[in-house]
Amino acid sequence: MKANELRRMYVEFFENSGHKEIGSASLLPDNDPSVLFTTAGMHPLVPYLLGEKHPQGKRLVNVQKCVRTGDIDEVGDDTHLTFFEMLGNWSLGDYFKQESITMSYTFLTKYLKIPVDKLAVTVFEGDSLVPRDTEAAEIWMQNGLKKEQIYFYDRSENWWGPAGKTGPCGPDTEIFYDMGKAKCGENCGPACKCGKYVEIWNNVFMEYNKNEDGTYSELSQKNVDTGMGLERVLTVINGYKNVYETELFQPIVKNIESLTGMSYTEENRQAFRIISEHMRAATFILGDPKAIGPSNSEQGYILRRLIRRTIRLIKKLGINNNIICNIAKVVIENYGEIYSELVSNKDFILEQLEKEYTLFSKTLDSGLKMAERYFSNLEEGSSLSGDLAFKLYDTFGFPIEFTVELASERKIGVDISVFEQKFREHQEKSRKGAGEKFKGGLADNSEQTTKLHTATHLLNGALRTVLGVSVYQKGSNINAERLRFDFSFDRKMTKEELEKVEKIVNEAIEKGIDVECTEQTVEAAKAEGAVGVFDSKYGEIVKVYTIPGYSKEICGGPHVLNTGELKSFKIIKEESSSSGVRRIKAIIGY
Ligand code: ALA
Repeated sequence: MKANELRRMYVEFFENSGHKEIGSASLLPDNDPSVLFTTAGMHPLVPYLLGEKHPQGKRLVNVQKCVRTGDIDEVGDDTHLTFFEMLGNWSLGDYFKQESITMSYTFLTKYLKIPVDKLAVTVFEGDSLVPRDTEAAEIWMQNGLKKEQIYFYDRSENWWGPAGKTGPCGPDTEIFYDMGKAKCGENCGPACKCGKYVEIWNNVFMEYNKNEDGTYSELSQKNVDTGMGLERVLTVINGYKNVYETELFQPIVKNIESLTGMSYTEENRQAFRIISEHMRAATFILGDPKAIGPSNSEQGYILRRLIRRTIRLIKKLGINNNIICNIAKVVIENYGEIYSELVSNKDFILEQLEKEYTLFSKTLDSGLKMAERYFSNLEEGSSLSGDLAFKLYDTFGFPIEFTVELASERKIGVDISVFEQKFREHQEKSRKGAGEKFKGGLADNSEQTTKLHTATHLLNGALRTVLGVSVYQKGSNINAERLRFDFSFDRKMTKEELEKVEKIVNEAIEKGIDVECTEQTVEAAKAEGAVGVFDSKYGEIVKVYTIPGYSKEICGGPHVLNTGELKSFKIIKEESSSSGVRRIKAIIGY
């Protein structure tokens, strides 16, 4: 069976029992600050699970695209994915356990024709809050499951949600497919990770709401929220061993084979799988109707992680050209019919991937060299300091998880808590620099601020080239729209001088120069000709940002990794600020 047939069969089955089909919501949830991405079909339905009337009624069904970053480290095995499609059906205060379990059983065994003995289910064993779910177990048995196919587990296994910190949740019954391997031990069961059991469907009996203070209250209605993994079901009903054998992945895997000239065999299997999986996820995030690009915060950061991890794996295979856009094209082709947003956002997807590739591949090699140097000083079992991990992030754009992965390949840990502290300080600094607009919710403002900050360095350098080295910085102010730079100079600049300055800055941008960052003593920085404020607030050791040929400044950062990110530079005003001080306002990327 193909994916299209499965999607259709699922929706029709539930429509035939009174469910109305609803569309797949965006991967970026509305009005739900508790999660970054839509991780399940229930997200857009939260208000209705809490009691609000749904315009389509009490029975709903859909196919929802989902992203779950929690499983990222598992990707590469047979079944775990960061992006997947969830087949879901809901009862909003309508039917409950009896109908829900019976419908699931019927669909699996009568429609998909899965033999009953290939199924195993789990139910909630009960605790002080909610009693043991003997009812669910009995319904499974009424339907024909044997006692040995039913496993009772505690809250860690058989309780679903809330997706974020608060929200609807409840005990669940999970349905597994037995892959036919021998049990790995006496206690092997559906909760075991050995690969014998693959979870395919989850029916949540959503009767509770988790509150801010950690307590649970009963919902005004008893809901059913189910979710079945399309890729996994497709795998098992076709007798495949893993999701990569399905037609959802095969074209991508084959494309990687032809782009790399390598085959998908044991040696490359893990890399091929992760590349396919991450590029599929990245394409869907970039192609979402609420399209976002890679950035250093929130969803954009997850996207960046997926793309950068892919780029490294590709380079590790020995491939030095940009094949990620080509892989994305295959994803778009493979899914465009069902998810037309991928087609309409194709240009944006490819443009963003190209940009991210250019940006990261430039610093990747030097970053890896630097990381190697750090690791070579460490013994197995020890940890990389949070400061150095932050440096890899700040200077070379290495997401922390990426550094952790590199370190663990050498059996080295990473001091995450210090990294996180530095990261928070860094974000705080960007926010402060970003001015009021940020509070109004200008999402990419901190990135814009970073770019304007680098533009300020280029401007400073260009002014010194055109007007002479007696020019020095008197003040700098950046908001979301523009940079404002005050400098020592005692007359109005001529039109030619302004044009020359603009030209130099734009030249540096066009060249796409890597911004280098080193840490050295104030004295050493001075000796190398760095400009900047030499007072003690920078401390003994200072960061020096260098844009070779254009600028060298002592500065706390943050800065872009490459000047190309600025796109373009334009002076919009030159005026007097105070006696002997001129002021320039300029914009970038216009
Ligand atoms: N919301 C439930 C899940 O994601 C169905 O497993």
